[in-house]
Amino acid sequence: MKGESQTITPARTVRGVVQLPGDKSISHRYAMLASIAEGPSRLENYSTGADCASTLACMGTLGVKWERKDDGSIELQGHGLRLAAPAEPLDCGNSGSTMRMLSGIVAGQKFTSEMIGDESLSRRPMQRVITPLSEMGAQIESLEGKPPLRITGTALKAIDYKMPIASAQVKSCVLFAGLYADGVTRVEEPLRTRDHTEVALRAFGAQLEQKSIASGAHEVRIHGGQRLRGIESRIPGDLSSAAFFLCAAALFPDSHLTLPNLLMNPTRARLLDLLMQMGLRISVTQLDQIHGELVGSLEVEGGQLKGITIAGADSAALIDELPVLAAIAPYTEQGIEIRDATELRVKESDRIAAVAENLRRMGAQLDEREDGLRIPGGLTLHGAELDSFSDHRIAMAFAVAALRAQGETFIRGAESAAISYPAFFQTLGQVAQELPR
Ligand code: S3P
Repeated sequence: MKGESQTITPARTVRGVVQLPGDKSISHRYAMLASIAEGPSRLENYSTGADCASTLACMGTLGVKWERKDDGSIELQGHGLRLAAPAEPLDCGNSGSTMRMLSGIVAGQKFTSEMIGDESLSRRPMQRVITPLSEMGAQIESLEGKPPLRITGTALKAIDYKMPIASAQVKSCVLFAGLYADGVTRVEEPLRTRDHTEVALRAFGAQLEQKSIASGAHEVRIHGGQRLRGIESRIPGDLSSAAFFLCAAALFPDSHLTLPNLLMNPTRARLLDLLMQMGLRISVTQLDQIHGELVGSLEVEGGQLKGITIAGADSAALIDELPVLAAIAPYTEQGIEIRDATELRVKESDRIAAVAENLRRMGAQLDEREDGLRIPGGLTLHGAELDSFSDHRIAMAFAVAALRAQGETFIRGAESAAISYPAFFQTLGQVAQELPR
């Protein structure tokens, strides 16, 4: 499948029902916590993406027995806090979440683990987890702060850690390590990031305290030595994957999509407010809670498509959705400006450069800045030969932009979509109604 191209033909509108696979962020956390819990867990609607399969494979290498059932659910037998020494490196593939969050768990073990990743992951910054874990007592070798990581676990010391950047992965790493520490570990984040780890830890029976502190900062405290117990759960549909369909619906005034069982966690749902401000009509029905995570069904209809500026805490809250918002910016009335998003440069690709390059190939004008982009609106783009830059979110973002372009678009490396959403192109094909030729 390497180097597979996808051809996207322009659409007249998008209509239909989209069932999203389980949320990637929650799937990683449930797989890790179920592994260090006691007793069995059953995780329905586990993410179908390659990244979450990497997490399960790593847990298997650490001695955890798990099985994928015919209905796609994962049955996993908890190993308890103490895992088994791995006979081979923990291969995290393309997944930054796997490497960063799991490093917090292996740092508390009585053995040495080697964590490796693919070419893209091997370029990504890991100092952000090396610093707090070293402070807790783990010994970590890396290639100047990049993978591979060699982590020698130990009896960890609890720390009070003030995170220099807002990162849910780093927060999760420190909280997981905190389970193995002697006392209370405190993590302070400069902005509130997604709270799935806190919600999931409670679901698996842990106790933690959290509160807001000055000027948007937030703290979480966890006591070491708590034992977890397995759960049975159904993972809500992935809101960041839904973003591609929501943005596709925003492109057409007569679109109509239904998205059942979607994650509605308020720390992830900023996208919905923003798209409503831009003109998408969204109604939420059947709100429910599963193990502390809010779930709802969405009905969305396109309307006007206004421009917007995204900056500050919004850029952090929308970090995974910014590529697709940028990709549809030329079709908005006033354009989109994105600021304070330097983190986009150290994702699976340099997402600012990748978006700028593909948009230019489609005939857009824009300003590329160190921390974002300014993309004027009111434009018609033309189909072009684009690149995924081996990044799932870039492949999917430009499939959406191509729906409103004039002429066909070819996306090289489109197979990258399978990192989070293997059925993406098939589902898009089902809801996109082609223009008559
Ligand atoms: C994630 C956090 C974000 C996000 C990533 C998933 C998570 O990364 O971009 O796709 O599940 O915690 P950072 O923690 O690096 O911001």
